[in-house]
Amino acid sequence: MSGQIRFSYEGALFEPNGLNKDELQKLAPALEQVRKEILTSDIELLTNPQEIPPNKQPLDGAFLELPQKLLLEYQTLKEKSEIRQILAVAERLQNEVDAVVILGIGGSYMGAKTLFDAFLSPYHNELSRAERNGIPRIYFEGNNLDNDSASALLDRLGNDFSEGSPEKKWAVVVVSKSGGTLETAVAFRKFLSTLKKSCGQNRRLLSRLIVPVTGKSGKLYDLATSIRCEDKFEVPEGVGGRFSIFSAVGLLPAAVMGIDILSFLLGAVSTNEHFYSEKELDNQVLQYVAVQILCEQKNNQKIRVLSIWNKSLESFGFWYDQLLSESLGKDEQGATPLTVVNTRDLHSRAQQHQEGRRDKVITNLIIQKPQEGPLVVGDLSSNEDQLDEISGLTYPQLMQAAILGTNQAYRDDNRPTLDITLPEVSPAFLGQLFQYFMLTTVVEGRVLGLNPYGQPGVEKYKELMKKFLKRSNLTD
Ligand code: PA5
Repeated sequence: MSGQIRFSYEGALFEPNGLNKDELQKLAPALEQVRKEILTSDIELLTNPQEIPPNKQPLDGAFLELPQKLLLEYQTLKEKSEIRQILAVAERLQNEVDAVVILGIGGSYMGAKTLFDAFLSPYHNELSRAERNGIPRIYFEGNNLDNDSASALLDRLGNDFSEGSPEKKWAVVVVSKSGGTLETAVAFRKFLSTLKKSCGQNRRLLSRLIVPVTGKSGKLYDLATSIRCEDKFEVPEGVGGRFSIFSAVGLLPAAVMGIDILSFLLGAVSTNEHFYSEKELDNQVLQYVAVQILCEQKNNQKIRVLSIWNKSLESFGFWYDQLLSESLGKDEQGATPLTVVNTRDLHSRAQQHQEGRRDKVITNLIIQKPQEGPLVVGDLSSNEDQLDEISGLTYPQLMQAAILGTNQAYRDDNRPTLDITLPEVSPAFLGQLFQYFMLTTVVEGRVLGLNPYGQPGVEKYKELMKKFLKRSNLTD
């Protein structure tokens, strides 16, 4: 893929205990078979949902073509397209409020949080409205049942809208595909009650300050209808929570944050084009899966470390943790994901990765160009800290040395590393990256004989929790 994210597995090819190309090549026909199945029968079944066989249910494969579908509608339907509506609502919120609370959990939260951390200043919420260019402060809640964090946010937001100016006002984007997830529903009730007080008799204002993103029906849908929300967005059929970043679930928060959602979608499309056209091991999605499966099957390397060399992408690692865990952690299978951020975690986890059990594959996520101009190690009139030798080098150069040194150390001890390189953190490259990992996960699931969609195991704790929610079982 040129001008694009790049996957390389050179660091996993070594003798005698690493991988070799012949072994990888043997996996290619099975992977190619899966690729064809995803591109043909899965897509066909999505148009005839009544024919989906039980072992493929749910079939949430509509994420694949969603980016190009939305872009096509944008060109043909113009003002009526979902993208234009998303952009219009985002602009309205930017003009009318100073803070937006995004309520959601799991797949209804992690993508938006990734975008916030990737593209906005880590100090965004501390900046003045002018310094933020009118982009509201952004907060995330409804992703936990933590009393103190919800309480602190409610205190922070305040409830006096009497002045009428945007500075004091805030809005809620509530995201839940099912509309019934307890964490999000409870938080919504809480934030709604404060918003109602703040709006007083002004029901129209209330209806403009809540934007739901939910399924075609359900409890949230009903509640939003009763509030008469002026704008609502739908999570499309056939798109599961953790695969929904390219629907309004991710796009509306992204647009509110001022992120270029068209480039973001185009990025996903370019990953698709590569996936559609490249066969067998020329396909970087299939390459990644082949390498990971072989590391697991041949060398029992079941811990998949995503080693991120950029602080702003830590939440991307958490997004991938969820994607891998909920998609493949089934039937006593599925690698265990672990996110590390370097160089920070070289001082916490690296000892174990270097000398601990040989059960890990390290995938480096490397960003070639920082978003800001490079900081230089300066001069000091004296040299007590003995840094004169590296004076004049930049932070990116120091980072590069750390990456090279760490990879070499693993290599010297026959520990496999893979690299995914992004030219920079931009909406287009992140679009490529999200789609890349969703595709690798679906392909891997199919090769392992698992349905990557759905998360039946999560239902068990929910059932038991319901039992314990009876007042008689709880203390005050
Ligand atoms: O990937 C998934 O489907 C889940 O993680 C869901 O996103 C999560 O459970 C939240 O569900 P909902 O959007 O229905 O509130």
